[in-house]
Amino acid sequence: MVIKIMLALYIAMEAEAQGILDALDAQLLPQQPIIGTYYQAGDILIATSGKDLATGVDCVGTEPAGIVANDLIVHHGVTQLFNAGTCGAHSSLEAQIAEAFLVSPTIFSHDHRIPLPRFEEFGMGAHPMPEVVPPLAKKLGLRTAILSSGNSLDHTERDLEIFLANGARIKDMEGSALAWVCRQHDIPLTCLKVVTDIFDLPHPAAEQFNANLAQAAESVTAVTLRTLQEWGLFDN
Ligand code: ADE
Repeated sequence: MVIKIMLALYIAMEAEAQGILDALDAQLLPQQPIIGTYYQAGDILIATSGKDLATGVDCVGTEPAGIVANDLIVHHGVTQLFNAGTCGAHSSLEAQIAEAFLVSPTIFSHDHRIPLPRFEEFGMGAHPMPEVVPPLAKKLGLRTAILSSGNSLDHTERDLEIFLANGARIKDMEGSALAWVCRQHDIPLTCLKVVTDIFDLPHPAAEQFNANLAQAAESVTAVTLRTLQEWGLFDN
């Protein structure tokens, strides 16, 4: 029996997704979920987090990511998830703005603190990434890094302590939720993260993010397309 791989991309922000949607000539699915916006390009499903009804902004963060990932797997037959988006980098990584990383070997949470036996471990995440990620990174000429997720663009001192204690060097707002859902379903996740800000500098991460989002989004598009090419799912 041949098991068909069904790949979905999850990209939290429309600005991060637009270049990929254009390059793949993705079409909006006729039926849309309440949470998330879904597109199709050939055999690939592409989901963004969609717009929040109350504020009109992209639904960044862990809750929409978890809901959409679960829906893609349960209701759309997705068997492999690829997350592409932006991240903050710790200064010790000496990353360039718009540098792309593949996440390996692990994804943590730095703001999911539950100091109770076993719950602490649950909150921390420590979700393992597939072993095929480092060879893929090598092929693409990218570095790998441990990712840690939280629901804030900024960070508290405690967040940073946990982030560093776990060996994390890049920080986002979706990875741990996607990794948790994929782990529950035993589905492989690959995370591509492109740097918009060096988050531990005195210059606020939000200002760096705004200044660098367009440049980072170009890199998200280019490296996502190269990854799809590597997987034989895109040729230009
Ligand atoms: N995405 C881009 N920069 C980020 C940061 N500093 N923290 C969380 N998510 C981000």
